[in-house]
Order: sequence, then C-alpha cells, then structure tokens
Amino acid sequence: MIVAIDGPAGCGKSTVAKLVASQLGYYFLNTGSFYRAVTYAHLMKGGDCSDRDACLETARNVSITVRNGDIYLDGTDVEDKLHTPDVDMNASIVSSDPRLREIVTAAVRKIAGSMDIVTEGRDTTTVIFPDAQCKFYFDASSEVRARRRTEQQNDGQSYEEVLALIEKRDANDRNKEVGSLKIAKDAVYIDTSHLTINQVCEKVVSVVQSRLRDCPAK
Ligand code: DC
Repeated sequence: MIVAIDGPAGCGKSTVAKLVASQLGYYFLNTGSFYRAVTYAHLMKGGDCSDRDACLETARNVSITVRNGDIYLDGTDVEDKLHTPDVDMNASIVSSDPRLREIVTAAVRKIAGSMDIVTEGRDTTTVIFPDAQCKFYFDASSEVRARRRTEQQNDGQSYEEVLALIEKRDANDRNKEVGSLKIAKDAVYIDTSHLTINQVCEKVVSVVQSRLRDCPAK
C-alpha cells in the first residue's frame, strides 16, 4: 500500500503523514528531505545552488539513506540541519533540475521497495508513485501556511518574511519543467486551512481503510 500526499509547503503534509504512518504501522518517507539533503551537502561544500551541473555532481556523489524517518547523508544523521531558511530556499532551486529529480526519484523508489508506506512531497502522486493506491492533495491558503510556519519555527523570522518565502517557493515549485506541483486526477483534495491535524489524519485514515476494505489483497 502506498499512501502518497502532495501539496504546497506548510499545508501539514509531514505532520499528518508521520501520524498516519504510525497509526497504520506503515513506513514514513518524506521526499522533500532528499532534495534538502542534496542542498545541505552542496552548501556545506561552499557550492552555488544555482549551478545545476555542480548540484548534479553533488547529488551523484552523496549517499542518502533513511533510518527511523531521519535522513542520513554519507552515514551521518543530518535531519536537524535540513530546516534552515537557507536550505528551504535553495532546496526549491536545487529541485528544479530534471536530471537531479531523476536521481531523487530513483533513490526514493529504491528505499520504498515493496513496503507499505506513507510518503509526501510535490510529485509523489504524479511522478514518483503514479500508481499509488491512495493519493491526497493537501492545500491551505498561503496566509494560513505562513502563520503555522511562524508559530512552529523559532528562528526569528517574522510572519511577513515567512509569507514572502512561502509565496516564492510556491511559484518555483509550481513552475518546474518536471515534477511541478499538480493535483493528480485521482487524488482526494483536502483543504486543511480550517481543520485540526487530527481531523486531517482521520480523513486520510478513513480513505485508506476504505480502500483496504475494497481491495483486501492490496
Ligand atoms: O516538502 P519540503 O518543503 O521539505 O521540500 C523541500 C523542497 O523540495 C521544496 O522546495 C519542494 C521540493 N520537492 C520537490 O520538488 N519534489 C518533491 N517530491 C518533494 C519536495
């Protein structure tokens, strides 16, 4: 069973995907972390993230693995290094290269293998797992998303700064040549703006359970 959730930054995908994975006993896979890990590795080398060839070289030379939901870069846990404003903005740029996206897509599919997973990102329902049995598209207004991010993050960024960053990333994520953020035809659309995390989880779990009932052999 593959439960795939796409949507823009800050609409609650990661939080919900993690909770749903734990409730169902599935493996959680955050595909954005792969782009973030490549970006972090490139920034650590002092690289320029707008240099596509150099980023591609970095992506080809790093090993990204996942253990207990945390991302390991060349064997080191870097999970707590991946959510800085610098990585946020640059990951959006790094993830625009179709060649680099192929590397990440292959790495994600390989790790997913034949496990039951809950995965999330921007193209998990359209490109990475187009045959996923359960697809969701989460949405929320940019203002709601910026407010949530401002409350979650403790790095001194104001609401206005977070909102500007979110809108810039949205524009970038929607305009990629490959893997741009789109609503898959067969995705269940959920506007999370006025829902609690638990309400969104309940909706997702109930769709997954009904699919499992309809198709018990998976
Ligand atoms: O979901 P996130 O914010 O951690 O993702 C980091 C960046 O990677 C974001 O700019 C969008 C991009 N991304 C992507 O292009 N495709 C994915 N499947 C997941 C994330």
